[in-house]
Amino acid sequence: MNSVKIGLLGLGTVGGGTVNVLKRNAAEITRRAGCNIEVISASARDLTKPRICDTAGIELTTQAAEIVENPDVNIVVELIGGDTLAHEMVMRAIANGKHVVTANKALIAKHGNEIFAAAQKQGVIVAFEAAVAGGIPIIKAIREGLAGNHIEWLAGIINGTGNFILTEMRDKGRDFEDVLAEAQSLGYAEADPTFDVEGIDAAHKLTILASIAFGIPLQFEKAFTEGITKITREDVEYAEELGYRIKHLGVSRRTDSGIELRVHPTLIPEKRLIANVDGVMNAVLVQGDAVGPTLYYGAGAGADATASAVVADIIDIARVLTAEPSHRVPYLAFQPDQMADTPILPMEEVVTAYYLRMSVIDNPGVLAEITRILGESTISIEAMIQKAGKSEGDVVPLILMTHEVKEGLMNQAINAIEKLDAIQGEIARIRVESLE
Ligand code: NAP
Ligand code: HSE
Repeated sequence: MNSVKIGLLGLGTVGGGTVNVLKRNAAEITRRAGCNIEVISASARDLTKPRICDTAGIELTTQAAEIVENPDVNIVVELIGGDTLAHEMVMRAIANGKHVVTANKALIAKHGNEIFAAAQKQGVIVAFEAAVAGGIPIIKAIREGLAGNHIEWLAGIINGTGNFILTEMRDKGRDFEDVLAEAQSLGYAEADPTFDVEGIDAAHKLTILASIAFGIPLQFEKAFTEGITKITREDVEYAEELGYRIKHLGVSRRTDSGIELRVHPTLIPEKRLIANVDGVMNAVLVQGDAVGPTLYYGAGAGADATASAVVADIIDIARVLTAEPSHRVPYLAFQPDQMADTPILPMEEVVTAYYLRMSVIDNPGVLAEITRILGESTISIEAMIQKAGKSEGDVVPLILMTHEVKEGLMNQAINAIEKLDAIQGEIARIRVESLE
């Protein structure tokens, strides 16, 4: 095959970046792939919009369907996003015998089981490296580089927008809304940015990572998801006083009773490398039994960084176009008939330590009441910050760090403490991970 022909669905941040990288590095890419890679057609909603790439020589259309039906296209690259039109186009492309590359984590996390089964049946490849952690080749690292390991757990900062917001708020004292607007203008955020700040995007990515690490089907609906919108500047400062950083983390861990699958703000000891991953950068820690801890770091969003992963997938497909389908690396790392039915743990069963921040009326005996309730739920306190009021009866912040306990017991204790007359409002809870 002298030339592999690409049909591109979407010419936005990632689509434009992909055209640019393919053009800029064409000679090097041809040497690596063993053939030319040519974008012959591309679709977008509005063909009059200015683009970040040069579209000369590319046939443009507003009809994505024309591309998936075009007999000259070998690889459909889906960079539209969402799981409606993108889902329909990917299924049609597969049905038409075309290989697919996508950066769409929502699509893979929610419909990957169906998509991979269809691709397997048709003998085509669906590649999705760019769907997790932008430019970091984490899918390839886990699926291929760590294939000899029994993976014990993984944890990652896997949303660039959320990390960018937390970093700017901490370092520059900027407002949440202001930083989010900048992340959108830089092309980092999802079309609906609540996916970024409410942790849905990270949960999509974690779902994919967990399947590849543990050989389980994709089960996005079972992921526990908590976003960053409730983190206050005070939480960030108290965490630092206690020697921790707050990061929005996706954690998946194999336990004897099932697999943890959870995304939430997390206190991490400040000396851990991952606690110092800032801005739009992502990082994923993977603990394998043979290799020990490994850490993968790089840009988690943005045009060129994400295009790096998209183009790598295109080159992979170009290289294996002549290989037998049964000899290819399985989508979820394990052979389809070897998927395990290990359950995903309900959040109540997950064990972590906690940071608790509450507003307390500064009266004698209140602390004793709180510790009594914690004690009844077998929760012990590791550290405490109590800010004194100016006079008795003032409302003051009380910060507690606990030892590890099951989430269900912590829920009971928080409910009981919130009912005390001396507690004002809700208790802020952030889970703690030592990542040792
Ligand atoms: P984007 O900038 O919004 O681009 C989306 C493209 O799809 C645009 O060209 C848009 O056309 C086209 N499009 C949207 N809806 C369409 C429709 N109904 N019919 C036809 N075309 C439609 O999005 P993006 O940031 O490039 O993201 C694309 C995918 O990559 C998403 O799945 C996203 O989650 C994923 N991703 C993004 C990043 C990142 O850093 N941005 C990183 C990793 C993965 P118009 O341009 O004419 O509006
Ligand atoms: N919106 C996503 C993020 C894009 O900020 O991480 C990369 O997947």
